[in-house]
Amino acid sequence: MPLLRSAFIALSKNRLLRRFGERSSVGRRLSARFVAGMEIEDALRVTEAVNKQGMSVTLDSLGENVTSAFEAHQAAEIYHQLLDAIFERKLNANISVKLTQMGLELDPALAETIARNLARHARATGNFVRIDMEGSPLTQVTLDIVRRLHARPELHQAIGIVIQAYLYRSQADIEQLLADGIRVRLCKGAYQEPAEVAFPRKADVDANFVRLSRMLLDSPAYHGLATHDEAMIDAAKSFAGQHGIDPSRFEFQMLFGVRRGLQRRLVSEGYNVRVYIPFGRQWYPYFMRRLAERPANVLFLAKNLLRV
Ligand code: FDA
Repeated sequence: MPLLRSAFIALSKNRLLRRFGERSSVGRRLSARFVAGMEIEDALRVTEAVNKQGMSVTLDSLGENVTSAFEAHQAAEIYHQLLDAIFERKLNANISVKLTQMGLELDPALAETIARNLARHARATGNFVRIDMEGSPLTQVTLDIVRRLHARPELHQAIGIVIQAYLYRSQADIEQLLADGIRVRLCKGAYQEPAEVAFPRKADVDANFVRLSRMLLDSPAYHGLATHDEAMIDAAKSFAGQHGIDPSRFEFQMLFGVRRGLQRRLVSEGYNVRVYIPFGRQWYPYFMRRLAERPANVLFLAKNLLRV
């Protein structure tokens, strides 16, 4: 299975396949399993439907690793439009942003300025920006930017970060983030990482996820546990139960199109659930990472394609 995972992650970086996939109608049909649609309006419609099922949302305008400042500003503009639309339509949603989409690899100062403007806009509309975490070469710079922005008193409530349980460094990072009062989304981690920086064995990643989620649950800030793994979810529930931590003090987060039954069940049990909803034309790398997580999805998608 790890071989297949590596193969899909390698494919997620293939430019030819990406160009073909994103432009073809077959590609779009396949991506519909995990992507809410191509346009802002599609994402807002799905957000409203998810809200009606009692779940909050975080919106991801797909795209990463931009190659010009112009593209970075264009990507930011979509998020500004989203913040306005969320406010005007009174949706229960925030935004998830990748710093490489905001130009991090071109100029970290550009990405920081764009993220600051988004956080200011979020604050002005009573909203929140989650900075997604990408590959490990970007962990430190992402943490630095989020900590600097969060240190501005006016942005205190408006920005949070993601920590990946597969990285060895994550416990120390969480200690620091908790000391600063920064809201964390904990996930297992979706990139291909070397054994020098990340646990190669799933069992170790899982054990670390449980350990780190306890640290988050124990802290006063409102954090998110992002996983579809019932063992992780059950561990969090029982820790919260044993320590008198009310379900209103944290949320579970899951991806659009993944474990929908589990999402609904958690809501019916009284837990907060947030659905991560990606949309946009640049869906290919995101989509391939989802296949990497569960290669069985390929069979599922192939069956669907034949049925249509
Ligand atoms: P795991 O991979 O062990 O899967 C557990 C079970 O969940 C599987 O057995 C299967 O039933 C189900 N499942 C998991 N993935 C599935 C899929 N794609 N399709 C169908 N079923 C699936 N990563 C990152 O590096 N940076 C980030 O910023 C984020 N952000 C983020 C936000 C949110 C809301 C979520 C849910 C996830 C992320 N991730 C992420 C991705 C995360 O790191 C991880 O790759 C996936 O969540 C898969 O890991 P699980 O914890 O679900 O467990």
